[in-house]
Amino acid sequence: MPASHRSRYRPETRLVHAGQLRSEFGETSETLFLTQGFVYDSAEECAARFKGEEPGFVYARFSNPTVAMFEQRMAAFEGAEAARATASGMAAVTAALMGQVRAGDHVVAARALFGSCRWVIEELLPRFGVSSTLVDGLDLEQWRSAVRPNTKTLFLESPTNPTLEIIDIAAVAQIAHEAGATLVVDNVFATPLWQSPLALGADCVVYSATKHIDGQGRCLGGIILGSQEFIDKHVHMLLRQTGPSMSPFNAWVLLKGLETLHLRVRRQTDTAAAVSVALVEHPKVTRLIYPGRPDHPQASVAGRQMRGGSTLVAFEIRGDRAATFRFLNALELVAITNNLGDAKSLITHPATTTHQRLKPEERAELGISDSLLRFSAGVEHPDDVVEDLLAALEAV
Ligand SMILES: Cc1ncc(COP(=O)(O)O)c(C=O)c1O
Repeated sequence: MPASHRSRYRPETRLVHAGQLRSEFGETSETLFLTQGFVYDSAEECAARFKGEEPGFVYARFSNPTVAMFEQRMAAFEGAEAARATASGMAAVTAALMGQVRAGDHVVAARALFGSCRWVIEELLPRFGVSSTLVDGLDLEQWRSAVRPNTKTLFLESPTNPTLEIIDIAAVAQIAHEAGATLVVDNVFATPLWQSPLALGADCVVYSATKHIDGQGRCLGGIILGSQEFIDKHVHMLLRQTGPSMSPFNAWVLLKGLETLHLRVRRQTDTAAAVSVALVEHPKVTRLIYPGRPDHPQASVAGRQMRGGSTLVAFEIRGDRAATFRFLNALELVAITNNLGDAKSLITHPATTTHQRLKPEERAELGISDSLLRFSAGVEHPDDVVEDLLAALEAV
């Protein structure tokens, strides 16, 4: 699909067609270009390609046709001018942040972050002279007062991991821009189907493509999206020279994942909503958080910035860690894991997995108790999933 035709089609159509580069054989499916390098008709052509004087591929660390198809398809769906794929979601987060900062700069981030993102901000950036401040992402006053003259970028996830709080992206983008800084949003939990941070004012969006984009538990991947200027200025050289590149094979798997993303995410969202209805008043459940519900604490912000609910539900079991583990161990269909966004329904105990590195008081500050669970809906029949959860609650 040529770039000029992107806006002619609706988002779901772009997920199936955008970015495809057909070879001379006219294949239906996207081609897996499993090649590291490229050859040239002449030394002059090779020299011109290296100088960037003519378009084309040079070396798979910089770009590859299958990876380029994935980047183009994601950019077309997200409404971004440019995109760069990476080997994992963490490579995308790290490059999007590191590419913007120099020693002496400052970063502000919401405290409720995926554990590895928090490590990059709290532990890695300071090693290179970049300081950081963590704030309560829901409190706009905290964002405003944390920003300093040397603040280069603000970073957040929404919904947050694992308590599914909704941070006001447009308001934080405004604070960033008034301070001459940028806003980077990790949109993994929302998925590109339900939330478009660039349209809300963010400068850059990052994904772990490992989650809903693959959605079938096969491979890791990440992607950074933004304006051409953002990608050229902050991302391009860092990726090209340091090499956290996506493998063409993974790009091919992810391209096929994109074709069905909207079908899977809609089904997962419906199942998550059904789970929230079944559990919200259950006597063995003390708290339930679901962004699609009117009783969600930030329901009005969710309504403004999200087009759908969520594929995830967070809830607390009545009782201690032992009771919570009894529930987990009694599940027969829903699998215990630390992942999310898969075709299979999954459940995570954040206190002992994704957030185990945090001190107990830090977990308490984030609302991560020993009885909190994060459920990720799969694409199974919703009734089977609900019945499995209800049966396991009997074991509590
Ligand atoms: C919100 C969020 N951001 C980033 C990542 C990192 O992605 P990856 O595992 O692909 O490196 C994850 C999960 O692992 C995540 O949940």
